[in-house]
Amino acid sequence: TVLQLLSFELMFVTHVRSLHTSGCGQQQEAVAVETDPEPFSVFRTQENDPACQSEKHFGQYYTLPSADVRTLFPHGLPRRFQQQVKTFNEACVMVRQPALEVISCLKKTDNSKPAVRYLFYGLKGSGKTMSLCHTVHFCYTQGWLVLHIPDAHLWVKNCKELLPSSYKTSRFDQPLQATEWLRDFRTTNEKFLSKIKTTQRYMWTKREFTEEGSSLGQLVEQGITRVKSSSDVVGAVMKELRLQSGQPESNLRVAVAVDGVNALWGRSTIKKEDKSAVDPEELTLVCNLRKLMKNDWTGGAIITTLSQTGSLYTSKSAYLPQELLGERGFDSMDPFIPVSVPNYSEKEFESCYLYYKDRHWLQHPQSQTEDGKKEIIFLSNRNPAMLERICAFL
Ligand SMILES: *[C@@H]1O[C@H](CO)[C@@H](O)[C@H](O)[C@H]1NC(C)=O
Repeated sequence: TVLQLLSFELMFVTHVRSLHTSGCGQQQEAVAVETDPEPFSVFRTQENDPACQSEKHFGQYYTLPSADVRTLFPHGLPRRFQQQVKTFNEACVMVRQPALEVISCLKKTDNSKPAVRYLFYGLKGSGKTMSLCHTVHFCYTQGWLVLHIPDAHLWVKNCKELLPSSYKTSRFDQPLQATEWLRDFRTTNEKFLSKIKTTQRYMWTKREFTEEGSSLGQLVEQGITRVKSSSDVVGAVMKELRLQSGQPESNLRVAVAVDGVNALWGRSTIKKEDKSAVDPEELTLVCNLRKLMKNDWTGGAIITTLSQTGSLYTSKSAYLPQELLGERGFDSMDPFIPVSVPNYSEKEFESCYLYYKDRHWLQHPQSQTEDGKKEIIFLSNRNPAMLERICAFL
């Protein structure tokens, strides 16, 4: 019977798994092809480890464990996805080609070579941020330290508190943004905080300093408790990681993930006291992040997206790297590996449609008919964000 067959398969898969401690060796893949362990839902996969996903999972949803969501993405998931997670009571991400492409490159990362820069680009709502999150999840499960900037545009606009830098007079600090980022960094990278030690002494004021050999946790704590030093602490954290990543003795690997990287070379809406606009390069946080974008460090990767949403003073239809990065940004990021994120394919659309139906996101009887489905395709152009918005009303 089907049930017997299933339990046999499960036993078999478990057995093979235990033989291969790496989790996903060639042999297990071969087994999984022969015996599909989940014949009842074509749009889902049980393969929740990004390292083990392959083409055969394209279009299927995998589940982000809720513990990973809490630690890895304290503020890192797009708002609409967060709402979905609440409504559906699960965090499911579709396995798509762009993320798997980058993940397969990351698997081959050479620790002694400069960090490679990856850039997800594509039309609005095509799923660039989710591709980034999927890739970051891979790095996290592989034990990399994750340095995630969920929206770089937030650093160049609406700054409630702007302070002249105490370190460099021509610069401005953003204590609120800096402390919030440090808190999230601490949550995500808990297990590294006591392991990594600072390689130099940092002076914050005449009386406050962080000694050489302090833990990364102490450094982070300095920024959180002494808000005035927070922007410089962010810089110190980034500097230490740049220096220590890829060193043979540390075995440390760092994933730098920046959503909306084009913000670093765009314009800002932040105003100085004389009402003139602040140039992003006058912001301590932006300067620190730009340094991290240089590929003069090893043992990690720089994974970024271009984002039109939230970007200032750019045409609404712009999405290509040269359009959104501008000349300066493009030169700074060059060379990079561009990865296009397209609208859903037919298969991906089908899977998403079935998933929404399964989650009762699509309830209107009309939406369940063939004609209704065609209408949804017509209205959304199979654009993930558009599809989600349209279905929210059905
Ligand atoms: C992707 O979807 C958007 C939004 O519906 C649409 O404007 C665009 O034309 C689509 N792109 C392609 C290549 O179909």
